Amino acid sequence: MKFYLDSAIYEEIAEGVKWGVIDGVTTNPTLIAKAGRDHEEQVKRICGIIGNVSAEVVSENADDMIVEGRRIAKWHPNVIVKVPLTTEGLSAGKVLAGEGTRINVTLCFSVNQALLATAIGAYIISPFAGRLDDINEDGMRVVADIVSAYRQQNIKTKVLAASMRHPMHITQAALAGADIATMPFAVLKQLFNHPLTDAGQKKFLEDYRKTQEAKPVKSSAEAAAKR
Ligand code: E4P
Repeated sequence: MKFYLDSAIYEEIAEGVKWGVIDGVTTNPTLIAKAGRDHEEQVKRICGIIGNVSAEVVSENADDMIVEGRRIAKWHPNVIVKVPLTTEGLSAGKVLAGEGTRINVTLCFSVNQALLATAIGAYIISPFAGRLDDINEDGMRVVADIVSAYRQQNIKTKVLAASMRHPMHITQAALAGADIATMPFAVLKQLFNHPLTDAGQKKFLEDYRKTQEAKPVKSSAEAAAKR
């Protein structure tokens, strides 16, 4: 399973890229607003350091979404155009996918919606697990069911587990067979943490330092004689 960052904050993304663990980024209008930067400028900046960057259309009908999607797709070859799982969004997504643009269908909450996205040639489907949990439904069950339906139907659209709220979601997404999980920077950082790792590393370094301190100090004459 690939890790994507669910963020439009350049500094966070640059940090994740430096750690070597992320393969892409998902943005949405809310995340762009949080970053406080111009949409195009910020997406281009992010595309400069990482591939697979989803950028979402904000038009309200299919024709406008097609025009907007074409414009976004030209920003950078790393861009994946995100369309909503509505009749207008899928209609626009079909045209854009037909032109060779990679499409991420967002705001998916059911297996049937995920099947509709495959019908228009979506590259990615994004089921929102956390938002289903928020309304007392089992979000990860929906992710697992989409993976299972896609496998049975031999569908190649990638399942991207979205709306991840905590590290357990990431484990569950991997066990469900998701191709990708996108997560906030705070969740990515939490994945690294384990008290036994911290304690183990502390002890290793302490023991190494002890061996260094215990080493006899050679005089420069002794060292020269040994050469
Ligand atoms: C990603 O593509 C989604 O837009 C994002 O994961 C939604 O997350 P949220 O439910 O925390 O807003």
